[in-house]
Amino acid sequence: MAAKKTTSAKKPTDILYIGIDLGTSRSAVASSSGKRKWVQSYVGWPKDFIARKLLKQDVLFGEDAISNRLSVDLVRPLEFGVIRDGTHRDEEAVRELIHHLIELVQPAAGQKIYAAVGVPAEALKVNKLAIREAVREYADTLMVVSEPFAVAYSLGALNNALIIDIGAGTVDFCVMHGTMPGEEDQRSLRTAGDYVDRQLYDLLTEKYPQARFSETLVREFKEEYGFVGKTNGRVKVSVPVGGKFTQHDITNEVKQACESMVPAIAETVIDLVARYEPDFQERVRKNIYLAGGGSQTKGMAEALAGALSEYGTFKIVPVDDPLYAGAEGALALAQDMPEEYWEDM
Ligand SMILES: Nc1ncnc2c1ncn2[C@@H]1O[C@H](COP(=O)(O)OP(=O)(O)OP(=O)(O)O)[C@@H](O)[C@H]1O
Ligand SMILES: [Mg+2]
Repeated sequence: MAAKKTTSAKKPTDILYIGIDLGTSRSAVASSSGKRKWVQSYVGWPKDFIARKLLKQDVLFGEDAISNRLSVDLVRPLEFGVIRDGTHRDEEAVRELIHHLIELVQPAAGQKIYAAVGVPAEALKVNKLAIREAVREYADTLMVVSEPFAVAYSLGALNNALIIDIGAGTVDFCVMHGTMPGEEDQRSLRTAGDYVDRQLYDLLTEKYPQARFSETLVREFKEEYGFVGKTNGRVKVSVPVGGKFTQHDITNEVKQACESMVPAIAETVIDLVARYEPDFQERVRKNIYLAGGGSQTKGMAEALAGALSEYGTFKIVPVDDPLYAGAEGALALAQDMPEEYWEDM
């Protein structure tokens, strides 16, 4: 990370700072021009000449790629926060996705691009080189940071704090103690949103073998009705059975699937925090933030505090803007970071 950039002093408008949150399910971008956008992390290439003629594009992204999935080769290049198996196709998809995200904030012609990319903690270890390659053509300098650190930066939670980023592929943890976090301050679990979706799918197909569920459908149910802890009314959804839409009560299954994340997260909090001195532990316990899409699960903060109660009182707060907290934090880092943290492309 310590390569010097060679750029001499330029007027600020000559540089566009960009913060990117590269996620397993969703990726977001924020820029110093004030623009911000997000896209589902899907890339699709038209399957053949007919598909290309029909779609009038060489590559499609997000919703666009998903809704045309019959005519494109659809790739979700990240799995468990890292580029899947590192196959050429997945790396190519990441490259296209990053290019697309940069295009979405519309850099002006001739503007230099300083990009900070937040990735799940695992990807920082495994994929740094691949991400560097993916950005090479589009940015002048690059910084790759861990996602929960970017979130911490966006919150100004730089000391005595713990960030828990509940994403689709991974739950990422980062303890902030007033310096740049190191590897030992971070953890990553795979029991995240995609895991909950699989649990829910299995529970529902077992309970209602006649009904037709899909992974996408159960994810929608989870995002709309997901909760942990106290039941607040029944969750009833309409699902086709033999072609006819029929009401199904999915309350217990939704609760069970969402709660399947709680024990491992609580255990990791204890394990991670216990490594520090007692007075620091005490302060961190009162300063825990939940980020990522999974932080929107109703009752999650309370359930975690409950699961941790035998170890003391914990104050856990969901962040206000889970969709953009990572990208905004990466942008703020890009704007503040001294030269030695940048890599010249
Ligand atoms: N309202 C909601 N309630 C519960 N879960 C939700 C809600 N909204 C989104 N999610 C879940 O959050 C996850 C996506 O969160 P996020 O965008 O932070 O992940 P990501 O950054 O793509 O993944 P990762 O950080 O693991 O690479 C998905 O599993 C999604 O289903
Ligand atoms: Mg994420």
